[in-house]
Amino acid sequence: MELMKNIWQAAKADRKKIVLPEGDEERNLVASEKIKKEGLAEVVLVGSLEIIKEKAKNLGVNLDGIEIIDPETSPKTDEYAEAFYELRKNKGMTKDKALKIVKDPLYYGTMMVKMDDAHGMVSGAVHTTGDLLRPGLQIIKTAPGVSVVSSFFIMMVPDCQYGEEGMLVFSDCAVNPNPTAEQLASIAIATAETAKSLCKIDPKVAMLSFSTMGSADHELVEKVRNATEIAKEQRPDLAIDGEMQLDAAIVGKVAKQKAPNSEVAGKANVLIFPDLQSGNIGYKLVQRFAKAEAIGPICQGFAKPINDLSRGCSSDDIVSVVALTAVQAQAIK
Ligand code: ACO
Repeated sequence: MELMKNIWQAAKADRKKIVLPEGDEERNLVASEKIKKEGLAEVVLVGSLEIIKEKAKNLGVNLDGIEIIDPETSPKTDEYAEAFYELRKNKGMTKDKALKIVKDPLYYGTMMVKMDDAHGMVSGAVHTTGDLLRPGLQIIKTAPGVSVVSSFFIMMVPDCQYGEEGMLVFSDCAVNPNPTAEQLASIAIATAETAKSLCKIDPKVAMLSFSTMGSADHELVEKVRNATEIAKEQRPDLAIDGEMQLDAAIVGKVAKQKAPNSEVAGKANVLIFPDLQSGNIGYKLVQRFAKAEAIGPICQGFAKPINDLSRGCSSDDIVSVVALTAVQAQAIK
């Protein structure tokens, strides 16, 4: 696939350090060997040295040259605990609790990124999305000017004329259960930027609803309408329009009828869902019925990149997400 080829090339050109906190997970070990062999990133595995080495031996995986850090014995653990305590003391954190928490590999890995000891983190082969997001939200927080962390999927739909010849970016399908209008506007803007920087497309952003340009009135529609106004006001340079139904967003003929004056309708390549229920169901419908490849969920809006994996992921999926994370890290100044 052309997109992933480009991402691999970009990752190789400026190698970043990416931490895998689920270091003793076998798929991460297999992925680490491949990432090293391909030169996509410098991987750091977090976990028990003994267990990781034993598992690698059993799998026949060569971890030569791959750093392994055990938070129980790492000389950095105290420093991370102190920094974590400082970050969270106004939320009731104590020094004792902080030391215990940063020994959890997910928190340790997140602190590595926070303290500039790694450029990004990838986790989720074992843990849930929430397990990964919580330390990220508490420690890394949002990038300057971004109000909310969200996620996107790059959908590659075979034999499809919609979007960019079947490539569309969907958001938010994995993080925010019920964003406010302001948050939805922020998600739309972040996704447009992602579409530009990562997918190299000219974003045309549709704010999805069950109504097109006022065809229905309801508080749910009102939220999307307000979000569209906010996003347009904040970023008049971006092509963002709504509210609109899915068919008006992607089908030219329907757009001509329902939204003839819209520069986005009929041509949308970025779809913003009004909430997590519609977003999560929406991407899975396209994935299953249209046999689309769904790359993600990739997080956006963090001050530094941390990304989630599906628990059903393969080692090749991990390699791809590490490459994507490395490319996101290259954009951090
Ligand atoms: N952006 C920025 N900050 C946020 C966000 C966000 N989207 N959400 C929460 N926060 C902040 C909070 O303000 C809080 O900050 P503070 O502690 O410094 O005050 C901190 O993050 C933690 O917030 P909590 O309220 O404790 O976290 P919460 O319990 O709301 O969990 C989470 C946040 C994990 C993102 C939750 O909303 C969640 O579980 N979302 C759904 C994830 C999911 O299950 N997705 C579907 C599966 S994925 C798939 O199918 C591919």
